Order: sequence, then structure tokens, then C-alpha cells
Amino acid sequence: MSKRVLVTGGNKGIGLKVVERFLELDYEIITVARNYDGFPYKDNKNITTIEYDLSDVDGLASLAKEVGDIDILINNAGYMQPKYTYNNYPKEAKEHIMNVDLYAPVELINLFSEGMKKRGFGRIVNTASIAGQIGHPDVWYGIAKAGLINATKIYAKLLGSEGITVNCVAPSAAETDMQKDNDEARKAAFKAAVVTNRFAEPKEVAEAIFWLATDCPEYINGITIDINNCFYPR
Ligand SMILES: NC(=O)c1ccc[n+]([C@@H]2O[C@H](COP(=O)([O-])OP(=O)(O)OC[C@H]3O[C@@H](n4cnc5c(N)ncnc54)[C@H](OP(=O)(O)O)[C@@H]3O)[C@@H](O)[C@H]2O)c1
Repeated sequence: MSKRVLVTGGNKGIGLKVVERFLELDYEIITVARNYDGFPYKDNKNITTIEYDLSDVDGLASLAKEVGDIDILINNAGYMQPKYTYNNYPKEAKEHIMNVDLYAPVELINLFSEGMKKRGFGRIVNTASIAGQIGHPDVWYGIAKAGLINATKIYAKLLGSEGITVNCVAPSAAETDMQKDNDEARKAAFKAAVVTNRFAEPKEVAEAIFWLATDCPEYINGITIDINNCFYPR
């Protein structure tokens, strides 16, 4: 029986490249996102697309029931809100980004790890960000992603003895729709801060996610793979 992988935000950007990697192998893929316009694999028999808004954290238990047991969870969906400053950040906007970028992925870990524990196997990969490491001008994005990096460590410790690994990636700017929210000056500053003067290709990030979810040894657990082209060597 083929393994089952859930990719949140699998319809485009980094998530789409992750989906394409799993398509190369015999995986059953479930994607969760709000909008599949332009998704190139709508009719692929190995892919089930679910329309769901991850800001609805209370609905995640029903979503998990609909999905059923999975072997691999890729918590990739997320967004940022660069238009708000730390001292002018509407309460609703803050709550929304915390729901999508932190509370939903953590809740999905809680929900799907139950089945993984029963089967003694699971792989969980979270898409965090350099924003969670360096102090980011989009404060609540940075706070959410820092939370996700720490959740990765916490759940690696909680679940590691059950055959489940939990790791994450922390990319710097990647060439996806998310960059549409950044102004040109900020994008130029990001490029100037890396050694190749370009954004990451989504495939470069997806490759690390795919490895953490598949061939990565069990002993690698609780880590963050930095994908930042010397923006933040450590
Ligand atoms: N691009 C970068 O520079 C960069 C750098 C570091 C980390 N990241 C992280 O990488 C991940 C993927 O982003 P990306 O760069 O590939 O950008 P993207 O192309 O804009 O993709 C974002 C994904 O998240 C989904 N999503 C956003 N809000 C959602 C919601 N409320 N409910 C369900 N799905 C939602 C989107 O689908 P729908 O809009 O259709 O719902 C889309 O699939 C994010 O977690 C992001 O924070 C990106």
C-alpha cells in the first residue's frame, strides 16, 4: 500500500514543488489550501485536493477525520503581513496570522500524530522561516515562525520515541507569490544580504522538505535546516 502524505499549501509555491517530488514516487497525496485555480494536478488520481481555510483552527478535527490516517505531515501553508508595523497591528490580523502560521500546524501535529503513534511511524516537517530566527520586521510573522521552530523541538522530544520525527526548514526569501507582499526596496535588501544575490527557488526549499520527510535518518530529529545562502550562517 502506498504511503499517504498531507501537504498544506500544496497548491502553489514551495508546497507545489513538494507535491511534485512526492508525485515522482508512489505516494497518495492530500493537499489543503483555499483555492486551486491554476493548480496543475487537479485530475491526478494520486492527489486529493481539499479546500480549507487553516485560520479555522476549531474545524481541524473534522478536517483530520476527512483526511484519515497519514504517514507524513508537511505543515507548509503560511503567509505574512508586511503592511502592518509593530505599533499598528490590528488585533484580528494578529489573531489570523497566529492561527494560520502557528496554531493550525501545531494542532495538525496533535491530531495526526495519534494515528502515527499507533503505527509506530511518522514524519512531520514544518515550513518555518528565517523570520523566526533573526528578528523580523513583520513581528507576528516572526513570532509565529519562532513558535513553529520551538514546536518542532518540543514535538520531536514528545514523539521521537514513537517512531516519529519532527523537523523544520527555515528559508530566507524564496521566489513565490508570498514575495508579492514585499515592496521593491525590501526585496532588494534581501537579495543584497545573500551571497548569490537571488531568492531561493521554491524547488530548493522543497528538496530539503522532501528529504526530511523521506530518506532522512531517524536520528535527525528536532532540527531546523537553514536555507538562507549565508544570510544567517550559524
Ligand atoms: N517565499 C518566501 O520567501 C518564504 C520564506 C520563508 C518561509 N516561507 C514559508 O513557506 C511557506 C510556503 O509559502 P510560499 O513561499 O510557497 O508562498 P505561497 O506561494 O504564497 O504559498 C503559500 C501557501 O499557503 C497557503 N495558505 C495561506 N494561507 C492559508 C490559509 N488561511 N488556509 C489554507 N492555506 C493557506 C496558500 O494557499 P491558498 O492561498 O490557496 O490558501 C499557499 O498554498 C509558508 O509557510 C511561508 O511562510 C516562505
